[in-house]
Amino acid sequence: MKKVITYGSFDLFHEGHYHLLKRAKALGDYLIVGVTTEQYDESRGKLNIVDSLDKRIEHVRQTGFADEVIVEDHPGQKAEDVQKFSIDIFTVGSDWTGAFDYMKQYCKVVYLERTKNVSSTIIRTQQYPIIRIGVIGSGRIATRFVPEAKYVSGVIVNSVCNPCRNSAEKFSERFELDLATDDPMVLLDAVDAVYIASPHETHYGYAKQALESRKHVLCEKPLAFQKKEAEELYALAAAKKLVLLEAIKTAYCPGFVQLVGIAKSGAIGRICDVEACFTRLADKKRRECTDIKYGGGFTEFGSHTLLPIIKLMGTDYQELRFDSILGGNGIDLYTKASFVYENGMALSKSGVGVKSEGQLVISGTEGYILAESPWWLTQYFEVRYEDPGKKERYFSKFLGDGLRYEISDFVAMIQGHQNRAFKFTAEESVAI
Ligand code: CTP
Repeated sequence: MKKVITYGSFDLFHEGHYHLLKRAKALGDYLIVGVTTEQYDESRGKLNIVDSLDKRIEHVRQTGFADEVIVEDHPGQKAEDVQKFSIDIFTVGSDWTGAFDYMKQYCKVVYLERTKNVSSTIIRTQQYPIIRIGVIGSGRIATRFVPEAKYVSGVIVNSVCNPCRNSAEKFSERFELDLATDDPMVLLDAVDAVYIASPHETHYGYAKQALESRKHVLCEKPLAFQKKEAEELYALAAAKKLVLLEAIKTAYCPGFVQLVGIAKSGAIGRICDVEACFTRLADKKRRECTDIKYGGGFTEFGSHTLLPIIKLMGTDYQELRFDSILGGNGIDLYTKASFVYENGMALSKSGVGVKSEGQLVISGTEGYILAESPWWLTQYFEVRYEDPGKKERYFSKFLGDGLRYEISDFVAMIQGHQNRAFKFTAEESVAI
């Protein structure tokens, strides 16, 4: 019996997939089809899968060509599978020509001609009109946003607004945008959504203006400085059926999502304490160290350190105490925020003028999780126990600057996939 194997995401199942499977089956007697998990696709930079794994498997089955369907969830699995299943022929579409020549050491490799003019990407684009995003603010973080948005299908950054028109124009030239303006209303007229990356104190005003103009909002942290302002923004978004997300990128990256999942799974028993630290010595002349009202360590990094605390210990703390070391100009150089919960505690340490070990430690009744610096770009963490020999290591991809993950979730939610909202809820954002 000649055994054939092929792999794919098979998202939004289309005739290209059907023809490929039909010809793959015809190459032999028994066809195994590997369907990728969303996590695996994410780790190789494919952030836009629409159909669930279940649905994609079902579509493959319905063709009647697959004798067996397996799940592909890690790099290197293809080589394992062909040996494990004694495969004679490995096949994929011609868009992969050459990419799998290394499989020739195990079996025959056949690249089948790809069906022209159809792909999941094309269907995604037709099904969901391209979302035009305007960037408000053109500083450091905004320059990272535009290149990252290119990795997410379904969006285009087309415009920029800055009260300093010259800065907007420079930014627009650099990133080849269609529009540069100093008037937010002009930008709002040209977009479906905005990314707010302006100075902290302007976030609330711009977010409100955008929501009132019926535009979705992805807003840099902190979303607002007052709880009632944040509540007002989320209420406005809900009333107008718009997506409002606070852009704490850690919340959306796969490694952090996994860390939260494992912490909540009971792996370390009951969670009793979360300690999170993020410090970065800032240039004394920069805004972080000179803006008495909106600069300082806690405003800068507190959103990061509060994220694991609020996600794991909840929003319902009983006491909260701040202790800060201030600079000569009154700036917050270093701040400890200590929380007391009914059944636990937490500590956030942030600073721009004091350096400390940037780690995240989640302590439980059975063990603890340690994520070392830079834990906020979560790529690696360990679950440790009383017995030092019993240690579990978790690795995850964090591609590029990591903004692509929040952009991908923002886009998916605009397209109606609300199941992504659990990563960072409105309630958690308001609490922060
Ligand atoms: N395929 C094909 N013809 C097409 C599209 C895909 O033969 N028009 C093949 C691919 O070469 C691959 C398999 O179908 O062997 C599964 O491809 P997948 O990546 O899931 O589909 P695409 O439509 O290419 O997806 P995307 O646009 O997301 O890359």
